[in-house]
Amino acid sequence: MTIHNLGDENSVLNQFISEIRNTQIQKDAMRFRRNIERIGEILGYEFSKELAYNSKNIETPLGTKSMHLSQDQVVICSILRAGLPLHQGLLNYFDAAENAFISAYRKHKNNEDDFEVVVDYFAAPSLEGKVLVLTDPMLATGRTLENVLEGLKKHGTPKQIHIVSVIGSQQGIDFVKSVFPTDTHLWIAAVDPELNARGYIIPGIGDAGDLAYGEKL
Ligand code: URA
Repeated sequence: MTIHNLGDENSVLNQFISEIRNTQIQKDAMRFRRNIERIGEILGYEFSKELAYNSKNIETPLGTKSMHLSQDQVVICSILRAGLPLHQGLLNYFDAAENAFISAYRKHKNNEDDFEVVVDYFAAPSLEGKVLVLTDPMLATGRTLENVLEGLKKHGTPKQIHIVSVIGSQQGIDFVKSVFPTDTHLWIAAVDPELNARGYIIPGIGDAGDLAYGEKL
């Protein structure tokens, strides 16, 4: 797997990351969602450099210009609900993308720290020969992505897989690297060192779904 940690470079991306981490600023849910969306736009722009491009003549009012454009069919696959703002950020740049949605949640037995990932809602088009973009804003353990990859197998074989994530734990990234095909790309805005006993990224941001859409029972 090729890992592109874009937070390692100095850019405006780190302003958006600092705002979603900041205890005070992250309380503004609208700004939180918009910042995740902006991060999705930046990561989407970066991964677009890996698509296949062909020359196409574009007619302007005054002449013809040959341009390199991608004909790749992109499918953006997001996990409900925390993945929605990141999904929107990618859709802002990939006008013709198809979409897949999956619901996955962590089921803790008797309030124990250990959990299983339960996948129930699954809506995806054919992936055969397409570019699959899997979004997971918080790549914590990597087990959700593993389950989603397994579930998507019956939808065909994509020609490329890109994972787009906002913050990952080193442990989660190492796990994903061990289960995804070696030619997968990971586009990520920050990598944090630890996971706590409940599987939350430390220092991370807290619960991305709750910050975007409110607490749940
Ligand atoms: N999901 C979150 O929302 N936050 C984490 O830190 C880990 C998983």
